[in-house]
Amino acid sequence: MVMTKTILITGGAGFIGTNASIFYVKKGFRVVVYDNLSRVGAKENLAWLKKQKGSFLFVKGDVRDDKKLLAVFKKYRPDRVLHLAAQVTMVTSITNPREDFEINALGTFNVLEVLRKTKSKAAALYSSTNKVYGELTALPVAEKERRYEYRAIAGIDESFPLDFHGPYGCSKGCGDQYFLDYARIFGLRTVVFRQSGIYGPHQFGIEEQGWIAWFCNALLFQKPVTIFGNGKQVRDVLFVDDLVRAYDLAFSHIAVTKGNVYNVGGGRNHSLSLWELFAILEGISGKKFRYSFGPWRAGDQKIYISDISKAQRDFGWAPRVSAKEGVRRLYAWIVQNDAMVKKAGVFRT
Ligand SMILES: NC(=O)c1ccc[n+]([C@@H]2O[C@H](COP(=O)([O-])OP(=O)(O)OC[C@H]3O[C@@H](n4cnc5c(N)ncnc54)[C@H](O)[C@@H]3O)[C@@H](O)[C@H]2O)c1
Repeated sequence: MVMTKTILITGGAGFIGTNASIFYVKKGFRVVVYDNLSRVGAKENLAWLKKQKGSFLFVKGDVRDDKKLLAVFKKYRPDRVLHLAAQVTMVTSITNPREDFEINALGTFNVLEVLRKTKSKAAALYSSTNKVYGELTALPVAEKERRYEYRAIAGIDESFPLDFHGPYGCSKGCGDQYFLDYARIFGLRTVVFRQSGIYGPHQFGIEEQGWIAWFCNALLFQKPVTIFGNGKQVRDVLFVDDLVRAYDLAFSHIAVTKGNVYNVGGGRNHSLSLWELFAILEGISGKKFRYSFGPWRAGDQKIYISDISKAQRDFGWAPRVSAKEGVRRLYAWIVQNDAMVKKAGVFRT
């Protein structure tokens, strides 16, 4: 008899979580989502997930609640844990650093403690961020007509020194280091992904977070946008299907990936400046952006591109969806769901 595998996804009603949930439901897993539904769009994502066919369970819970987490682990005994729940905006982390710390640092510690206390053999993956490398101001950068370029390197690999910036950088970085250390000290089967620029359907982009989706929303609804800086800032961008495939590969290669950290983004071939994104979106939509300029945001990197060769080497992963195609798919999803996206509150300040 084939036993159904269980995956527990914290933050599973969020943008990445919804895409991961549906991926695993389709793969035949029992999917248990643990989410407090605090994010704009989470309730809408959950309603959509509940309508899909397959084994899907929802527990309303907070990662700060260690007792509830323990009870959920004991009840469902997950084979895989995908820890995505987080306070995700730098801006909120500055207005409320304690809450940011409690969700991201303590919440992640709670997940690890539950794994340790239940002697779990689950493979557990933590979604960290490129922000753990800080502003990277020492890297020589060339300013071109429409984008910044690195002068000396192709991308940032995992050996770059950590340099946590802002409460969000510190709290996510804390979770990142704890996740790695629990593999070292307690033998847990944990993996860390330092992600950058993830985008795709089910993303409810707001001005503070989810930049590609935010600009899609603003263009569709013809809201004016602010460009913080000069618009030449570059990020590597990764379509969410490619990320979820990377999660799955990292889980299935856990003997190799445990205790390891991977930079996971689009890499050099999937990178966009703001001006390049504007050109793609205006081409797709036939609409024009209304924009003005604001000062650079604190801690904003002029350019961030991941070196993804370690993920390629260890579990044979590379992104497949081009930036142009991915942006087209995201914009199409927003157009199809325009009333829901607006009603969810993406323009609420
Ligand atoms: N989207 C990106 O580009 C990106 C880049 C780097 C890292 N990440 C990381 O990936 C993860 C998922 O990001 P996302 O873009 O899907 O964000 P998201 O905000 O859409 O999803 C986060 C989910 O966590 C839930 N949540 C928040 N606080 C919680 C709490 N205290 N207890 C339980 N649930 C809680 C929210 O309701 C939401 O559903 C986060 O950890 C984020 O830091 C995302």
